[in-house]
Amino acid sequence: MKNRVRYIIAFLLIASPGTALAMPWSWDMYIQPSNRAQKFPAPPTPDGIVPTTGKPFYAKDRIEAAKLKNPFPPTAESIERGRERYNIFCATCHGDGGKGDGLVGQKYVTPADLTGPYVQSKPDGDIYFTVGYGGMAIMPAYGDSVPVEDRWHIVNYIKGVFGKSANNK
Ligand code: HEC
Repeated sequence: MKNRVRYIIAFLLIASPGTALAMPWSWDMYIQPSNRAQKFPAPPTPDGIVPTTGKPFYAKDRIEAAKLKNPFPPTAESIERGRERYNIFCATCHGDGGKGDGLVGQKYVTPADLTGPYVQSKPDGDIYFTVGYGGMAIMPAYGDSVPVEDRWHIVNYIKGVFGKSANNK
């Protein structure tokens, strides 16, 4: 009888929420080798998850931007991606062939001729800057719609195709 009472008391203690939560099983998930927020030093990042070596392609002005190096070599894929994006975002004004004779361009202020020496002699970073932040005078900025990578692909298209097009000779 005495034992039974002990068992019942023990059971009630274990089953009551207060005691149950104090038992090791309720916090053994908490004690684990993971890192707590704000713990210093921060654990090393495993290789290849979030890139930490690249630098953002931010330039405070056109002169700084001109020094940026195009991270994408002008491969066929890059130029193709650039062609697609150019046709969506730029051709309306600059025209399919880059001559500045797109339908909107004809009604708007005449856009720059992208095939001519003025644009073709510009560093990649300068053209990249124009796409993201707008032209010298009134060309709107396309940074909201054209992500960083695509700006460089468009540059490769402008240089690689318009720069070498027969129109340019
Ligand atoms: C709404 C019409 C319009 C669209 C769309 C447009 N441009 Fe322009 N662009 C212009 C006009 C107008 C100029 C000349 C005046 C200026 O520089 O603001 C110009 C100038 C330029 C220049 C020469 C800037 C300089 O250095 O003087 C480049 C390069 C250029 N555009 C590239 C592009 C590219 C690439 C796109 C697509 C992402 C594009 N433009 C979309 C109207 C447009």
